Amino acid sequence: MKKEDLTFRQATVKDVGQMLNLVNRNASKGVMLPKSKGQILDLLTNFSVAVRGEKVVATCGFKIWMDESAEIISLATLKRFQGQGVGTKLIQENIERCKNLGIKRFFAMTVAPKVFTRINFKVVHYNRLSFKVWMDCSNCPRNAAGPGDKKCNEQAVELLLD
Ligand SMILES: CC(C)(COP(=O)(O)OP(=O)(O)OC[C@H]1O[C@@H](n2cnc3c(N)ncnc32)[C@H](O)[C@@H]1OP(=O)(O)O)[C@@H](O)C(=O)NCCC(=O)NCCS
Repeated sequence: MKKEDLTFRQATVKDVGQMLNLVNRNASKGVMLPKSKGQILDLLTNFSVAVRGEKVVATCGFKIWMDESAEIISLATLKRFQGQGVGTKLIQENIERCKNLGIKRFFAMTVAPKVFTRINFKVVHYNRLSFKVWMDCSNCPRNAAGPGDKKCNEQAVELLLD
């Protein structure tokens, strides 16, 4: 399957069930945080999907934080579509949408930092992401001892635009 056979577009309510499957299947393997239907619907306008016909093969969203940074969230590609640049294209499309909103700082917490560093994100210390760390890390089951606890399997990556 080639990337050209896929359509990249904003997510709709019809996609939510498949997005939840994709995200929560990966979450059950411990590589990303789970999402509820409510959490996806709250941020639905910030989510993109790659589809083949009606089938959602990848998804990615963004969340804007109090310090006007945007977090790249819920990035996942179905296994048989991985390694073809689909995830990268979704990240880049989300960055473009955020740039149109005036956002200049992007970050992610990820088990796959290479996906980000190859498009100019830098690996940074988690404590640069203060809002994220206070709000999400402190509630994460892997991090009951506090942000940065060694049970955390994710790295922080950041992209600063001029
Ligand atoms: C991470 C993920 C979304 C990447 O999606 P994708 O569509 O395969 O991404 P791309 O094809 O654009 O790959 C981008 C690059 O990242 C690399 N990469 C992909 N997955 C990776 C992983 N899990 N760990 C490290 N590097 C990874 C690829 O090798 C590729 O680099 P290369 O072209 O130099 O070889 C996909 O592997 C996935 O769904 N993984 C399970 C969910 C997950 O781990 N999500 C967390 C991301 S925050």
